[in-house]
Amino acid sequence: MRIIGTICVSLLTMAAVLAAPALSANSQPTVSSGELVVIGDFDSRFVPARDVYVWLPDDFDENGEYAVLYMHDGDMLFDAAVTWNGQEWGVDEVASRLMAEQAVRDFIVVGVPNAGQERNAEYLPEQPVRQMEPAQREAWIAAGGDVAAELRDTLRSDSYLRFLVEELKPYIDLRFPVLSDPGNTFIMGSSMGGLISIYALARYPDVFGGAGCLSTHWPGALPGRESPFPAAMRDFLAGSLPGGKRVWFDHGTEGLDAAYPELQRGVDAVMREKGYEQNNWVTYVDQGADHSEDAWRARLQLPLTFLLAPPEDRSLATVSSPDGRLRFTLNEGRFGGKTYSLTFGSETIVRDARLGMRFAKQHGFDRGLELVSVNTNSHDSTWEQPWGERRVVRDRHEELLLSLQNPQGGRIDLRVRVFDDGLGFRYEVPEQEGFGTLHIVDELTEFALPQDSTAWWIPGRRYNRYEYLYRMTGLEGIETAHSPFTLRTPRGTHVSIHEAALVDYAGFVLDQRRPGVFQANLTPWSDGVRVKTAAPFKTPWRTIQVAEAATGLLNSSLILNLNEPNALGDVSWVQPGKYVGIWWAMHIKRKTWGSGIIHGATTAETKRYMDFAAKHGFDGVLVEGWNVGWDGDWFHNGDLFSFTESYPDFDIDEVTRYGLKKGVRLIGHHETSGNISNYASQMADAYDLYEKLGVSQVKTGYVADGGDIRRIDENGIAQYEWHDGQFMVGEYLRSVTEAAKRRISINTHEPVKDTGLRRTYPNWLTREGAKGQEFNAWGNPPNPPKHTAILPYTRLLAGPMDFTPGIFDLTFDGLDWRHRVNTTLAKQLALYVTLYSPVHMAADLPENYEARPDVFQFIVDVPTDWEESIAVAGEVGEYVAFARQERGGPDWYLGAVTDSNERDLSIALDFLEPGHVYTAHVYRDGASADWKNNPYPVDIEKRAVTNDDVMELWLAPGGGAAVRFEASGDTVPVSVDRP
Ligand code: NOJ
Ligand code: CA
Repeated sequence: MRIIGTICVSLLTMAAVLAAPALSANSQPTVSSGELVVIGDFDSRFVPARDVYVWLPDDFDENGEYAVLYMHDGDMLFDAAVTWNGQEWGVDEVASRLMAEQAVRDFIVVGVPNAGQERNAEYLPEQPVRQMEPAQREAWIAAGGDVAAELRDTLRSDSYLRFLVEELKPYIDLRFPVLSDPGNTFIMGSSMGGLISIYALARYPDVFGGAGCLSTHWPGALPGRESPFPAAMRDFLAGSLPGGKRVWFDHGTEGLDAAYPELQRGVDAVMREKGYEQNNWVTYVDQGADHSEDAWRARLQLPLTFLLAPPEDRSLATVSSPDGRLRFTLNEGRFGGKTYSLTFGSETIVRDARLGMRFAKQHGFDRGLELVSVNTNSHDSTWEQPWGERRVVRDRHEELLLSLQNPQGGRIDLRVRVFDDGLGFRYEVPEQEGFGTLHIVDELTEFALPQDSTAWWIPGRRYNRYEYLYRMTGLEGIETAHSPFTLRTPRGTHVSIHEAALVDYAGFVLDQRRPGVFQANLTPWSDGVRVKTAAPFKTPWRTIQVAEAATGLLNSSLILNLNEPNALGDVSWVQPGKYVGIWWAMHIKRKTWGSGIIHGATTAETKRYMDFAAKHGFDGVLVEGWNVGWDGDWFHNGDLFSFTESYPDFDIDEVTRYGLKKGVRLIGHHETSGNISNYASQMADAYDLYEKLGVSQVKTGYVADGGDIRRIDENGIAQYEWHDGQFMVGEYLRSVTEAAKRRISINTHEPVKDTGLRRTYPNWLTREGAKGQEFNAWGNPPNPPKHTAILPYTRLLAGPMDFTPGIFDLTFDGLDWRHRVNTTLAKQLALYVTLYSPVHMAADLPENYEARPDVFQFIVDVPTDWEESIAVAGEVGEYVAFARQERGGPDWYLGAVTDSNERDLSIALDFLEPGHVYTAHVYRDGASADWKNNPYPVDIEKRAVTNDDVMELWLAPGGGAAVRFEASGDTVPVSVDRP
């Protein structure tokens, strides 16, 4: 290795040091303080493998938060005993001292050894060389001799940076308790290492917050007074160096360093042009110092304190969850704007994210904000749901109310509630002069999330509304996404971003503005305004659920807790339950919605369904296609729908009377095809008709492309709105409150996303808002097996979903036809438990249930209203298992589903009442079942269990299991302890 140094000396007029050879011997460095972790042979797709040294300071805390300094020439940093020249930077000594003195924040150092002979190939900035005129480059290389020619062929500094940024950094972020944001990520080196450091800052401004460049070798790796490199490097920096970073330059005055001042002055001019000033840029001259590790060591404290100065405390107010783990902080932002951050133990979930809003005609709340007052409050109560996934809900949170004022005297409050399982914050604009009519043009709220997180998401503001398959990607793959937006951080924490209580405001989609920074982008009206309002008003709650385990997200009541209590008074008329209907037959094209010989909604067919419903204990029969308007292209002809006139072969008086006699209600259906004005003008009459006929539940539909809801304005002109803009948020709720006046409950399809309004309006029973079962009838492709293993962790975090499970004829057009259900039969049963909805459909045709009465029994038994629900196992997108206790009875139910992978689950039955014996009715995939080739085998088994037992369940590929734990009334005999 040392020989390389010699070769370089002979070839390069500048000096031997440029070679800075690698380790002199194979021995590893030892440190005099802290600890050195050696990552042996770190493999890379970009550069040759090498050892990497990670230096951890004294008293290193696994749960701490450390900044990271990446350093080049990693062999030279720690131990003079193993370096080629017997010198070292003394990084361990200097850093330890500065940390002890609290002159710097806590940080670790990642020392990356150079590539020995190919050191220059990795450290000479590639782009400036590539940007030179070809002739100029050739002349320059020709002057450099053999070594230069080799350098030309091996130049790979861009690859070296990709190794640092794409491979090494993610590894460090994952394995060490570090702050991964640019504000805490720095890079440093000397000589050629200085060059590559400033180059790294220019190439990766989103990764690095600052660079330390000691004795930067501005001439570049090759010799020659006429070298074009320095000018090329300057041009490159002038074009690419971002402003606003922290940059340290220095040089001595002896040896090699004597040649630097003039070149450094040229770079300094660039720095000034970029707006760098004393506070974020230093060029320091170390009088008398030469070009050596000894010199760098002697002044190392200067660049370290400059780059890693303890962050200035910008926090203004803070509040923690009752258990102390989650912590919200309001910070001073740029130009007097305000930001917030959120930590979970030692992990930063949201770093310094923007708050505020802007108006069309008033001064906004975006800069120069003064914090006028801070109030805190503790809250702990329980409340009951009239129906739900659990009866009793605990609301325990700490509250912070922050009053802010803009320079013009405008006032806004930020109310923050922090629970153990997440937080919500909302803006409240009090009544004040000049705020009579307000057009919000932008809400500035951001979520700055941990880089290298994995997200599960669907695209936002696209034609198919919420009906997309969820994608699992890194954050970098996302432009806009709907909420709930679920992610897992590199440390394995689960997070979901959403909103609660969306009333008279626009829904947001998350818009990735900069890497990892998502703005709550409000869906605009057709005229571009986001929200039309007047003070006083409150925004919906912006929510962030946080849990260690994936199941922690599922067991949270955060969204409900942030909604207002029941506003409807007595809601005993709101009834959860199960229904069947004239529905799937249309989706699989056996019947039609429109009139004709295979019209589905006939009096006779409805009676047949009502007979079936009565026989098996279903409460309702949904009938679609009963009313005039379905003929022709109903998707585009919403104007033609009548909501009071039935087709001649459907006698609505007759069927409702027939049903009521049998204890079965007709479930009404209104498809609007997004023609909202046509619906609005008939709504009162339509609901009156249903009320008169004893119809107590209506399914509504808003099939129209996103942005294509047709609203006729006050001038008679058609305007086109989004399903989640402020206008439609209001229309959906109007249908619910109008229905409530008539004791009718609503099940909305093609809805706006759920934000927990069922608490305030308990007659808003359920809704669609994701790809449901219908996609298995005609979707290209149908829902893949993992779909229902993702939904609970995403869509269902918002609230109940009318997925319509229970298809028994899974392969209605044959096993190999592309339209089919991608599950086993047992999994269809499991969905009744894993997907929560207070009304569930048994979606298949009666004859298909009658063919499998043994399996159908589970659907007959399973309730839809629960005393308690517990997610007992699961990982996002892979599997989930829920245990739920029926409301008003002792029985428990278990449902478990898997993605396309088979799975063995061991479920502890500790949720059962201790001391009681239950008969477990188990419905599980038969031994040879798999969704693709053999979906039908179901093993049905009965056995006695207690809460001491553990149930082993095998789930087939694409399979599931469903269990009813029937309380037998027996108690467990008290065991007598034997000596
Ligand atoms: C879409 C709904 O999701 C579906 O259930 C319904 O059958 C059709 N629209 C027709 O209204
Ligand atoms: Ca739909």
